[in-house]
Amino acid sequence: MADEKTTGTEVSEAQIAVHWKEEEYYEPPVSFIAQANMTDEDVLERFGEQNFPNCFKEYADMLDWYEYWHTLLDESNPPFWKWFVGGKLNACYNCVDRHLPKYKNKAALHFVPEPEGEPILHMTYQELYRRVNEFAALLKDFCGLKRGDTVTLHMPMILELPIVMLACARIGVIHSQVFSGFSGKACADRIVDAKSKVLITADAYYRGGNLIDHKEKADIAVAEAEKDGQHVEKVLIWQRYPGKYSAKTPLVEGRDFIVNDILPRYYHQIVEPERMNAEDTLFLMYTSGTTGKPKGAQHSTGGYMAYVTGTSKWIQDIHPEDVYWCMADIGWITGHSYIVYGPLALAASSVIFEGVPTHPDAGRPWRVAEELDVNIFHTSPTAIRALRRVGPDEPAKYNYSFKHMTTVGEPIEPEVWRWYYNVVGKKKAVIVDTWWQTETGGFLCSTIPALHKMKPGSAGPGVPGIYPEILDDNGDPLPRGSNKAGNIVIRNPWPGRMLTIWGDDERFLNQYYARYNKDRNSKDWHDWPYFAGDGAVEAPDGYFRILGRIDDVINVAGHRLGTKELESASLLVPEVAEAAVVPVPDPIKGHRPHVFVSLKPGIQPDPAIQQKVSDTLAKEIGPIAKPGKVWIVPDMPKTRSGKIMRRVLAAIAAGKDPGDVTTLANPQVVDEIKKQA
Ligand code: WT7
Repeated sequence: MADEKTTGTEVSEAQIAVHWKEEEYYEPPVSFIAQANMTDEDVLERFGEQNFPNCFKEYADMLDWYEYWHTLLDESNPPFWKWFVGGKLNACYNCVDRHLPKYKNKAALHFVPEPEGEPILHMTYQELYRRVNEFAALLKDFCGLKRGDTVTLHMPMILELPIVMLACARIGVIHSQVFSGFSGKACADRIVDAKSKVLITADAYYRGGNLIDHKEKADIAVAEAEKDGQHVEKVLIWQRYPGKYSAKTPLVEGRDFIVNDILPRYYHQIVEPERMNAEDTLFLMYTSGTTGKPKGAQHSTGGYMAYVTGTSKWIQDIHPEDVYWCMADIGWITGHSYIVYGPLALAASSVIFEGVPTHPDAGRPWRVAEELDVNIFHTSPTAIRALRRVGPDEPAKYNYSFKHMTTVGEPIEPEVWRWYYNVVGKKKAVIVDTWWQTETGGFLCSTIPALHKMKPGSAGPGVPGIYPEILDDNGDPLPRGSNKAGNIVIRNPWPGRMLTIWGDDERFLNQYYARYNKDRNSKDWHDWPYFAGDGAVEAPDGYFRILGRIDDVINVAGHRLGTKELESASLLVPEVAEAAVVPVPDPIKGHRPHVFVSLKPGIQPDPAIQQKVSDTLAKEIGPIAKPGKVWIVPDMPKTRSGKIMRRVLAAIAAGKDPGDVTTLANPQVVDEIKKQA
């Protein structure tokens, strides 16, 4: 199967040479421990394997149920396990209605527009309740949507996005939010796969100082979906400025509707929440492979909600009093689990930020943090590296105070971790490095912030109730401290895992379970390890260090090097801001690494820096890691979501055509890099 997360042959040499050196521990601050949700060491015992699966009752009990479940885990059809069977609940009720008696006048959401001249909007739980109900009424009556139907959202980071999601959840409609940075064609593929008849979008949004016409993508999406046989009947369009249409693209008569024109019909209407079964689908979240069609991770209502609520409470340490800012986009799973569903289930105040973190300058996030008095901050290594690169001294200029910070999405280099800790967190915040995936619903590995020490660059042990292990290609465990990397698996089922791939049970089974299952007929969960597709190593202390996707390895003369460890070592050179390493075919060694580095502000390219990078790799990892070439580039080619496109760099380094680069956030850098070839 041609898919980047498939098992294929690329894992035939699972044992990656590991050259990481052990990092020193950092203790969680006493001030953090004093207020933390989870300080009881017994939790490790309670969620230990001897108490599986009953331990997850604790998470289920953080929710309100209409009917309590009778079977905690139905194991009859592995790996299609069912959690909390017999239970009935509603996700919207749990995120909104149940908070009204105590918190109706408290902010549920803070919307921070990108233009700094526009005021921040604050929406209370009461107002969220009213607006979710109105929109739920509109979906039912105007669109004719009912329980079990799907609807595709292609919405930017505006306040209406969580309103739409919660309104869908209220009436049992399955939402499928597509990241707004994706093209109309990508949106169409997801409309077709989900068989949506309604598309919900917005006219425009701000990004990097420009008000972007977003509605034009809806026209492409509908036309492309039509070609593939999926007819979209209605397009609902939210206005970035209510009452004013901000896109240039005209409306299509009879198909396109401005939500604000229709909504007054439903003013004051209250819609009873649907009593959903625990294993009913709450939403789809597509993850795209480099090839192959995107797959819709199908997430449940009961298991998912229990899992994101529990982990938001214990790992994110969210209390109702907290101002919580996750700077991800709701178009990714991080935003679903840890901007919307988890934080709102705990009655937090969750921040929605429209813009680019470094626009108009690298002080912006810290001004937002100061203004809203954010105390929990959550972002990705890519954003941290970008902020460190363009504004290393900015955080000190602002008077904010974080108690807790998260890094998620990629391995973080210890050097970058230390900047996050020292400069962003001002040595006062605890950090969790949370490793997980779209498919897993919530965190898999992380420290419990008040109970475990932090270790830069390591995600930590499995979170409560998750039992990870490293397996070699034969399925034999690589013991803790063996200093060998292999494939990380989760040995057990857990409530947050997706139910299946939408419409493709077979692909689900093959992708995540075929790799290590030896007996398809076995009913015993021990025979069904979840294959995550990441390389990792388990240190003697039981902390897992994630090396990246199994295909992110470079084979130099039969010696496998993780790209991440090379990149991490490159960052030890003080002039270097960002580094990306790619394999380049070499007639003798098979492959050699090429290192691309961008420099910190004010530093001029200099052959001495290239030499330093090369020397550092040789010193930190060994002569085997000496790069074929060190490229100094003005910036890395990046996707709209901020991931470095190593594929483009690899093509340039190999003297090949990098292909279509128009979807990059910064396609112009490609030509500049090519000049150095
Ligand atoms: C892949 C999943 C997790 C939600 C956002 C991304 C990588 C994720 C970490 C981390 C090292 C990480 C893995 C994983 N990854 N978190 N803390 N340390 N690597 O979701 O798009 O499904 O990507 O992101 O390679 O498999 P995703």
